[in-house]
Amino acid sequence: MKLILVKDYQEMSKQAAEYVIEKLLQNPNMKLGLATGGTPIGTYKFLIEDHKRNGTSYQNVKSFNLDEYVGLSATNENSYHYYMNDVFFNHIDIKKKNVHIPSGDAPDIQKECEDYETVLTKHGRVDLQILGIGNNGHIGFNEPGTSFDSKTHIVKLAPSTIRANSRYFESMEEVPTRAVTMGISTIMQSKEILLLVSGESKSKALLKLWENEVDEYFPASVLKKHPAVTVIADEAAYAELRANDRAFA
Ligand code: GLP
Repeated sequence: MKLILVKDYQEMSKQAAEYVIEKLLQNPNMKLGLATGGTPIGTYKFLIEDHKRNGTSYQNVKSFNLDEYVGLSATNENSYHYYMNDVFFNHIDIKKKNVHIPSGDAPDIQKECEDYETVLTKHGRVDLQILGIGNNGHIGFNEPGTSFDSKTHIVKLAPSTIRANSRYFESMEEVPTRAVTMGISTIMQSKEILLLVSGESKSKALLKLWENEVDEYFPASVLKKHPAVTVIADEAAYAELRANDRAFA
């Protein structure tokens, strides 16, 4: 894993956006894996600005999101469908037919998982997958203990994830308890991964990612087995590593 250390959230977002734009210019037909949560919002803002200013086009891009809450429709303001339209897709020229997000309100969720995996397989490997990390090391919604062999599946969210994500909901009770997520092995299929880590609340997770053995109880640790992972972390997220005297090039 390559670590790029930056000053703050703004700088992380800018560098991440520049990374994506460079790949996009090299390959305008790229398959782009996208994440939700608070972390990538700044990156999407920079990408939108670039699209408006420089005309970088997403006309031929195919996007694949990591996950969606079970039970929320695309029009529900807390769904990841809504989030993606709101913070990114509505502001660029991506074609709706090229957007892929698992359906949280599909009548048969198990079938939805299988269908999503089939769609991913049909399109071939994602070129660049953007990832965030949960405080407990989750990637997508793959909670600790998820098999590294997992494909797209239904998960029961960990209490700590429900607590962390309740900031987007009116109350904790409204947070769905289940989600559909790309599996660990699905994520590992991506040709390249860009992991974004920002803020003090993530500094323990970043320390564990660096220090811990590869272990299913810390899902992000699997990334150490991937040949092309770049981590962009800000100073606040780096605090624990610094305190532990871990230096990086
Ligand atoms: C959420 C998402 C993940 C995200 C993570 C961190 O539960 N499913 O894809 O990376 O948690 O979220 P945040 O960026 O808001 O800290």
